[in-house]
Amino acid sequence: MTATTSLPRLKFELLKTDPASHARRGTLTLNHGVVQTPIFMPVGTYGTVKGVMPRSLEEMGAQIILGNTFHLWMRPGLDVMASFGGLHPFEKWNKPILTDSGGFQVWSLGAMRKISEEGVKFASPVNGDKLFLTPEVSMQIQTVLNSDIVMQFDECTPYDTKGHITTEAEARISMELSLRWARRCQHEFARLENPNALFGIVQGGMFENLREESLAALVEMDFPGYAIGGVSVGEPKEEMLHIMGHTPHRLPANKPRYLMGVGTPEDLVQGVADGVDMFDCVMPTRNARNGTLFTRFGDLKMRNARHKNDPQPIDPSCTCHACAGTSGVSWNDGGREGFSRAYLHHLDRCAEMLGPMLATIHNLHYYLNLMREIRESLEAGTFTEFRAQFKSERARGV
Ligand code: GUN
Ligand code: ZN
Repeated sequence: MTATTSLPRLKFELLKTDPASHARRGTLTLNHGVVQTPIFMPVGTYGTVKGVMPRSLEEMGAQIILGNTFHLWMRPGLDVMASFGGLHPFEKWNKPILTDSGGFQVWSLGAMRKISEEGVKFASPVNGDKLFLTPEVSMQIQTVLNSDIVMQFDECTPYDTKGHITTEAEARISMELSLRWARRCQHEFARLENPNALFGIVQGGMFENLREESLAALVEMDFPGYAIGGVSVGEPKEEMLHIMGHTPHRLPANKPRYLMGVGTPEDLVQGVADGVDMFDCVMPTRNARNGTLFTRFGDLKMRNARHKNDPQPIDPSCTCHACAGTSGVSWNDGGREGFSRAYLHHLDRCAEMLGPMLATIHNLHYYLNLMREIRESLEAGTFTEFRAQFKSERARGV
């Protein structure tokens, strides 16, 4: 903590741990507010959670959202972000923001990028300009954005490039590069006197020994929080679950743990059991735009013709604005104000923009409510029972 600031930067308190798993219930205090963990963080890549007003996010109980260094650097660019005093006043979201470093996004550019010790050279996908993203530049951008949680610049070790399986030797080279970049990030972050919190990212591909080495080196560097990266990169589900079971509980118990880019509702419940405190994923928002809706009793494909005449809301037990209108009373509790499946089906067929907006509200509400139920079960000491009930309900089918 620099002497010039009285902001909390980051404080993490563990309130409860589950004796039957690695699950924890905590509070994470950041410069823009307090976050109850475990938490799901909606993704707002370009400074907007697509199609959702900030007040709706608040209504749904979102406590912290994501932004992206890479995209915001491209557009609107740093001069605009700086003139607004950061991302919060620009996007009108006053609660905590976490920004990803750009490491994952330049990795997604595939053949268009060139990685060296110094950083990543690539052509801007927007206007073709030659750009060079380094650990230092990523810290400079995230300092302008003033995000509450800043991610280190890393290399997201690929699982499989063009049919080629990443070997242990290749995964080691990548993991060690990310460690050197972690040090450079830490140094630049301090030099910039960034008043927020910088997280290190554990890499190491699908190799336990590499994950443990990465973790030990990052813990030695003493970050205020840690992420697990390099999962959900095209590996089979079992491999993802294996890393999820291996790495989180080995991280320091007194610091927040963030699993990047995961996952389905089932992954979230398992991830919490494995000791994860924070998740983000495009799945609820992206799937909503593609007409796939999550419900307590399984997933629903809005485009299916069987919904054409259905007066029920997406999920009769849901209290979101799409399912319960403004009443907050679900159909199951006698409310009848929600939008029908027939209406959502119709909006989709006509490509009306209210369709994806309502679907996004519902899906995010589902994810945020799932996390709230997890937190409540951890407080009540009933997480084991919660998991069993969650599993059987989701398997029931809509
Ligand atoms: N998002 C999902 N996975 C990753 C990762 O490994 N690194 C970064 N920076 N972001 C991610
Ligand atoms: Zn709903």
